Parts: sequence; C-alpha cells; structure tokens
Amino acid sequence: MRVFCESKDFQNDMQDLANFFDPDESIAFNIHHSDRTLDSTLTSKIMLENNGDVKEYVKFFTIPVGLSALREKSVKKSFFKNHLYLVLSAVLKKSLPWGSLTGVRPCKFMREMVERGEVKEHIVPEVLMKEFFVSEDKAKLVYEIMKHQKCIIKNDKLVDLFINIPICPTRCNYCSFISNELCKIAGKVDVYLDCLLKELKAVKNLIADKSYIVRTIYIGGGTPTVLTAKQLDRLLGEINYPVSEFTVECGRADTITREKLEVLKRHNVNRISINPQTFCESTLKRIGRKQTNKQIFDAYMLAMEFGFIVNMDMIAGLPGEKLGIFKRSINTLLELSPENITVHTLTIKNGASLKEDRSQVAEKDVPKMVDYAEKVLQQNGYKPYYIYRQKHQIGGLENVGYFRDGHICIFNIDSMEDVSSVIGVGAGAISKRVFNLENRLEREPNCKFIEDYISRIDEMVEKKVKFFS
Ligand SMILES: C[S@@+](CC[C@H](N)C(=O)[O-])C[C@H]1O[C@@H](n2cnc3c(N)ncnc32)[C@H](O)[C@@H]1O
Ligand code: SF4
Repeated sequence: MRVFCESKDFQNDMQDLANFFDPDESIAFNIHHSDRTLDSTLTSKIMLENNGDVKEYVKFFTIPVGLSALREKSVKKSFFKNHLYLVLSAVLKKSLPWGSLTGVRPCKFMREMVERGEVKEHIVPEVLMKEFFVSEDKAKLVYEIMKHQKCIIKNDKLVDLFINIPICPTRCNYCSFISNELCKIAGKVDVYLDCLLKELKAVKNLIADKSYIVRTIYIGGGTPTVLTAKQLDRLLGEINYPVSEFTVECGRADTITREKLEVLKRHNVNRISINPQTFCESTLKRIGRKQTNKQIFDAYMLAMEFGFIVNMDMIAGLPGEKLGIFKRSINTLLELSPENITVHTLTIKNGASLKEDRSQVAEKDVPKMVDYAEKVLQQNGYKPYYIYRQKHQIGGLENVGYFRDGHICIFNIDSMEDVSSVIGVGAGAISKRVFNLENRLEREPNCKFIEDYISRIDEMVEKKVKFFS
C-alpha cells in the first residue's frame, strides 16, 4: 500500500502505519490523505483507491486551545493516524497489537503524557486501548513496564558511557547490524583499539572538566568478547569509573573463555550477556550462528562461578521454528534462570541475508510465541522493564527485557527511554545529549564503519568534546 500525504510532515508516519497492515507489500491500494483546518476544526480526508475504485472517508476533530506548535503537530499526527487505522482495520478486517502506534518507544510516549499531566498513570492502559486502539495485553504490558522504570533520574550531569565493538566471529543471517567479521578485519583490530583508547582518554578529560558523573557503562557490539583477553585488558584499563553497573555484551558463547571472564571481573564488570537466541541446534546452524548449546551452558556455568549478573537474548520467529520449538527454548532458559532475559521478535531488515527467503519464518506462530514467553516468564517471577519496537518486526510486535529479583539494567532503560545523556565511543556509536529543562535531545553519531572511524579519529574526538561542552 502506498500512502500520499498532502502534508509532508505526516507522510512517514502514515506510510509506517500502512506498512504494519501490509508487511509484505502485497496490497495494491493507493491511499491519498489531505487535511484542512478551519477555525479550530481539523478535517482529515482519506481516499482509498483500489483498481480504479475510489472510496472516501472523512473525520473531524476539534484542536484543543493553547497548545505549543510542537504539541499541536503531534496531536494532529495522532488524529490522522487514528483515522487511517480505523479505515484500514475496517476495510482489511484486521487489527494490530499496537493499534495506531507506530513509534519505537511506546512507554516513552505514555510517560511523557503522564509527565505533561494529560493522563493519570493508573489510566494508561485505558488511554492506550480507547484512544490508540492498542490491544488489552499490550496496554497492560506498557503499564507494568512503567511501574518498573522508577529508577529514571533526570539530571543533565548524569551520563551513560557506551563503547561499541562492531566485530563478530562470523555473521548471523538475520542480522542487519553493521558489524565486521573478524577474519575480514583481523589486521585492523589493534589499530581500532588504539583509536578507542584515544577517544576514551579525551572522554575522561571531558568528564572531569565538565563535572559529568558516569552512571552506567555498557560495552556492546557486535561481540566485544571477540577481542583477546589481552586486548580486553588493554581496553578496560582505560575505563575506570566508580559505577554500580558495568556491562559487557559477550553475546556469542563461542567467544567466552575463563581467561576473558577473569579480565572482565578484574576490571569490575558486573553484568554480561550470553545470548542463545534459541536452544535448537539445527536453527543455530540454519541462521549461521556458530555456537552450540554446550558452549552456552559452559559459558553460563563460568559466568555463575565468577558471580556475573547474566542477561540472555532470545528471538521469536527464527526461520524454521514453530511454536513448539520456541516454547522448548524458553523452558530451557527458565531452567537456567539468568537474572535478565530479553525476548526479541524477529525483524527482517534490508541488509540481512534472511530477507531473500522469508518463507521459512512461521509468521502466524510469532504472536503466540511472544505471548507464551510473556506468560511463563511472569509466572516464573520475571517482570518486564523495558520495551522497544522496530520497523519490519514480524506481526508489528516488540522486544521486551525482563528482570528477576531487582536486577534491572539501568542502561537499557536509559537508552530505550531517551532519558539520559550517552557518551558513545567507537565506530557506529551514537552520542545523545539530553537537556532536561528544555525537554530536548540532540544526537551526534560517530562514523559507522571501522575504516572511516580510524582514518577520522581526530575529528571524532573533536566533535565529541564540542558536543558535550
Ligand atoms: C546488539 S545485538 C547483538 C548482540 C550479540 N552480537 C549477539 O548476537 O549475541 C542484540 C540483540 O538483538 C537481537 N537481534 C539482532 N538482530 C535481530 C533481528 N533481525 N531480529 C530480532 N532480534 C535481533 C538479538 O537477540 C541480539 O542478541
Ligand atoms: S547477531 Fe550478534 S553475533 Fe550475529 S552478526 Fe549480528 S551482532 Fe554479530
């Protein structure tokens, strides 16, 4: 379905909503949208064109008085999307789990409404259901997650530090992250580390000069433990801030060794992730993820021996998996009982080799997988604490992070909710600066590719210092 909006400001959001109804772009409708404002009455007109047959749908709305220009635009956008949602769900006889919401951060959307005093927190589920047509389950999920985000602190001096290692042992076929296979850049890893250390030194001075306080540290990727123990030691030697949360995303179990975990422990890392994605070994082979269950179990035992808090990532909808296989993986995960579990819904983006063959994905089973995970995790004492959605996610679903026994990862909440500044170091890292009083956020990306990052390191450092000064 193609959308043509008269007001270009709304084009992308309206097209995104249409895409959620038509993920494989198989419906041949053209949707024309126009709007008029007379006094405070807003008219939304949708013309649905299907093989020469045109149907027209009109809806009116009274714009509340006294809104800022930005708020007025956002209110109009919600009204147009709601109108399109109602038309398409009636014509296609289909409802979407997230109703007319297309944004990446459903909790942020509602939290800001609560903060503006437009909605009382206890009626968040009703508002999501009545005003945005969100399903009851998802509306309650948002409310539940908001209850576990009370650790949010809004303070312009607090920052999270993120360091990116966009290198992996091999490439998984569903992945669209910019990450390099080790064999292709092995000769550049030490130079990349030199540049990271240069950037980290500048960041250390910046933090001291501007009196920033580092709240959490997260080394992600990619697969940071693709680095040798010696390289990890060198990198971590440059990162010494007194934080209570220091995470390294190990990811692939085949990269985890006792020696590397010893190095992490010595440098005060207290959280790691070991990501199975599935416990079905034939799926692991199919998706080109070269790790075995034995490697996952061994890595987990080692992590427990060292006393790390462990997160495990899973994906619902991996090619070749039906509901039964997914349920078995979740049950195995519950036996291991890591402190954190993140359940992702498969996203098929451009750039992933899986895009060529979507037929292996049991799309109808995916909502049942996500529901199953949510139900049994909660029955086993896990609570949801952060959420985000992506374009091209199967069934228009979501990714949810769960914790047990108080082990919330603050970095995940901060970065998904956009509530704290992030100093991003390394290729592909994005820095964010939050201005709480002005309710504003700015972003500053580093070069995406390792080669560019290396050749432009001085420029990266200079831009970073200026951005946070
Ligand atoms: C930054 S990524 C990579 C972490 C690490 N390299 C690994 O693979 O274990 C974090 C998580 O995103 C999820 N992910 C990556 N690609 C995905 C996709 N196409 N669809 C759904 N989830 C995805 C995976 O669960 C992955 O563990
Ligand atoms: S999923 Fe993780 S390990 Fe696999 S290619 Fe992507 S970033 Fe690397």
